[in-house]
Amino acid sequence: MGNKIKTAVIGVGNMGTAHAKALFSNQVAGLELCALCDCDISRHDFCKTVLPQIPLFKDWKTLIDSGIAEAVIIAVPHNLHCDIAEYALKSNLNVVLEKPVDVSVSKAIALNRVAQKSDKVFAMMFNQRTNELYSKARNIVRSGALGELKRSVWIITNWYRTQQYYNSGNWRASWAGEGGGVLLNQAPHNLDLWQWICGMPISVTGYCDVAKYHNIEVEDDATIFVRYKNGATGTFITSTGEYPGTNRLEISGDLGKIVIENGKLKWWKLNMSEREYCFNADNPNYSLKYEYSEISAEKPETAHIGILQNFANAILYNEELISPGTDGIFELSLSNAAYLSSWQGNLSVNLPLDCAEFDRILAEKIKNSNLKKSSPDHEDGEYLPRWHVQW
Ligand SMILES: NC(=O)c1ccc[n+]([C@@H]2O[C@H](COP(=O)([O-])OP(=O)(O)OC[C@H]3O[C@@H](n4cnc5c(N)ncnc54)[C@H](O)[C@@H]3O)[C@@H](O)[C@H]2O)c1
Repeated sequence: MGNKIKTAVIGVGNMGTAHAKALFSNQVAGLELCALCDCDISRHDFCKTVLPQIPLFKDWKTLIDSGIAEAVIIAVPHNLHCDIAEYALKSNLNVVLEKPVDVSVSKAIALNRVAQKSDKVFAMMFNQRTNELYSKARNIVRSGALGELKRSVWIITNWYRTQQYYNSGNWRASWAGEGGGVLLNQAPHNLDLWQWICGMPISVTGYCDVAKYHNIEVEDDATIFVRYKNGATGTFITSTGEYPGTNRLEISGDLGKIVIENGKLKWWKLNMSEREYCFNADNPNYSLKYEYSEISAEKPETAHIGILQNFANAILYNEELISPGTDGIFELSLSNAAYLSSWQGNLSVNLPLDCAEFDRILAEKIKNSNLKKSSPDHEDGEYLPRWHVQW
């Protein structure tokens, strides 16, 4: 392998086009666009104009078997992700996989097994991990500086989408085409960050409201309640039907709390353990001393380009992955568990998930799904601001 990794993009729609353009215009050192693949031939005409001279394929297996690529970026509808990623890894290609890893945890587990046996680099496109406020929050929580976790609450309701958005692309917002709604399409970034910072809970209760604000057959509003192993609780609220929305993450621990909102991380750092104070204090004012600080990001969010650059550096220089492929299973476990809970009358669902039961009910929903027949309507294929962290 030379200093440039020959990289193909599979699925040249909204997202894939943006990745392809980034490589075509040499925005990622070490990745060279070598081929494009889309099953929709109308995308080939678009590619010939916008990304000229790049070989085009209609079938992803033919592309992978051709040997033209050393790496692939997969940006097709979710329910094809694992099949293509598995085949690519087994064919000795490095892989960047768009979020979510797929629609069901059972497929993600199978892909994880293949990935673990492979010596190829496998990254998930969790581009919001490159926002420094979240890595700082992760360091605070994971280092123990916040003390034992008590509660986490994320209100992430600024994923507003119109009916026109849902009408674009015949796979969107149906059980057969997409396999879920806001939890599977928009919120995976936040579900991933949530577990990346606070860790995985042991049980999940989901309230997933189907078609609350749009004419779709999946959920566009969801509230998830979780319990962690130490007894701490968490709440995650998301929606595509509220405007203006909120993006506020609050995490409380025995040594204080942090809040991320409006592009700032606020940190109330107690000088002593609250639990210790509670049982030893004779101060009638109930006031613990704390230091307050406001932290801003020092570096800009590098987003998709940052993940692609890290992927290239991992292949070329063994750089540690920001978002390893195997991490995809965690956030998908949260959304699958929330669906299963919701389908079972909001019963609490334990993790690891009962994959067989989830797959059984999803298969029923797919069987009865009302897949739209509208033709795809792609945007112009730039990285859209709405895909970055929004405050
Ligand atoms: N990371 C992010 O910020 C971000 C943003 C948007 C979308 N995404 C993800 O990217 C993926 C694609 O979403 P999109 O909005 O680009 O969808 P899209 O419908 O615009 O594009 C998907 C493309 O895949 C092609 N395709 C479908 N089946 C194929 C097959 N079997 N072989 C080859 N090509 C095939 C379609 O023709 C289409 O051009 C989704 O998984 C989505 O979650 C990620």
